[in-house]
Amino acid sequence: MKLGRLNHIGIATPSLDDSIAFYRDIMGATDITEVQQMPEQGVKLCFVNTPTAGGAIGEGTQLELIEPMGDNSPVAAFLAKNPAGGQHHVCYEVPDIEQARSEFEAMGKRILGPTRIGAHGTPIFFLHPKDMMGQLTEIMETPGDVAH
Ligand code: CO
Repeated sequence: MKLGRLNHIGIATPSLDDSIAFYRDIMGATDITEVQQMPEQGVKLCFVNTPTAGGAIGEGTQLELIEPMGDNSPVAAFLAKNPAGGQHHVCYEVPDIEQARSEFEAMGKRILGPTRIGAHGTPIFFLHPKDMMGQLTEIMETPGDVAH
């Protein structure tokens, strides 16, 4: 496994509207993406772009704000335990998703479901928190040219 960039931190929320207002008005975020609906994943979400080390917007780590869609959403179970919302997962980039998946499998790590296309349009998979020092972990192939 070759650890790549911390792409984003996933944060579950009972209200995307409230979270967007919080990051914009309290935290001073200036770049928040449009809300995407992903009914097949049982979530709707948007990204807060944090600045880079130089202060520019573009390649900074993102916050992924996630609100459940429907009672069967995996995020609904998280919110049942954490009604105010909170930190849900971390996502690291890798250069080659298939290689990373094979390496984690060889190490006996439990992978949650198939590799699928995530909100950035690149393949992702999730690893079980009990095999990852307690942290639900998303692995994502580094996006090609633009649009993180
Ligand atoms: Co994510």
